Amino acid sequence: MTADERVTPLLADGSTVLETRGLKKTYMQGKVPVHALRGVDLAVKEGELIAILGPSGSGKSTLLNMIGALDRPSAGTIIIEQQDISKLNKNQLAEVRRNVGFVFQYFNLIGRLTALQNVELPMTIKGMGGAQRRQKATDLLDLVGLGDRVKHKPSELSGGQQQRVAIARALAQDPRFMLMDEPTGNIDTKTRDAILELIKRLNAEKRVTTVMITHDASVARIARRTLYIVDGLLYNTQEEAIIAEETHQALEIKDNGDGSSEVRV
Ligand SMILES: Nc1ncnc2c1ncn2[C@@H]1O[C@H](COP(=O)(O)OP(=O)(O)OP(=O)(O)O)[C@@H](O)[C@H]1O
Ligand SMILES: [Mg+2]
Repeated sequence: MTADERVTPLLADGSTVLETRGLKKTYMQGKVPVHALRGVDLAVKEGELIAILGPSGSGKSTLLNMIGALDRPSAGTIIIEQQDISKLNKNQLAEVRRNVGFVFQYFNLIGRLTALQNVELPMTIKGMGGAQRRQKATDLLDLVGLGDRVKHKPSELSGGQQQRVAIARALAQDPRFMLMDEPTGNIDTKTRDAILELIKRLNAEKRVTTVMITHDASVARIARRTLYIVDGLLYNTQEEAIIAEETHQALEIKDNGDGSSEVRV
């Protein structure tokens, strides 16, 4: 079998590579529980490009942190490539994260390093040789259209350019998954469109399974599938999400403090 034949086509009938079942996350704010995720069932197929849309505070970053093995759920399971990651220890989780490229809400680039050095960093950590990683970082910066900005530090780049460096860095270790938190946050409309086109092209060319979470509905334009998150629960359609949001606002929800809650009309 050739490498090309092994690649699953970009159709939603590919195999499920990422799944959550009844995923819950409760943060303790002092003695008050905050139910950030209240039972999320999600299934992502290989090569998919998914957008999860939701308002501020709906649990988007929390969900991304869970499926990227950055934080542990309070309940439920997360299955990545047939492996239940809720049962893994710290080292095994680090291993899972090696297959994940993250693009964070606020870029998270290192200010004193150049664009090239930022992209090299994951490869440096991995122990790749200098010449090899410089070549790869240069190629990746070319790929995202920043071949002429390799020596710039983040403060010498525009927001959109910084975001592209972050995307190049996320690709540096050939991840099988890309998880993006507000990939078009903090950038203007024109740059946003260029970033979206880039994400779409990378997904098509590199066939990396991609989940983008955002409050920006225009991001959904490039997604093959859009899901909606409201108050820690995931919905398949905007209509369901709107009804849930309105219902939630119209009802007074009393938190019992023990993980359960009561609804009063
Ligand atoms: N470490 C934490 N401790 C306590 N509560 C938290 C913590 N992190 C998040 N939360 C709460 O959990 C809920 C979900 O937060 P999350 O960051 O996932 O939202 P979000 O959808 O990413 O919002 P935004 O669009 O503003 O980034 C919020 O109500 C938030 O206040
Ligand atoms: Mg967030």
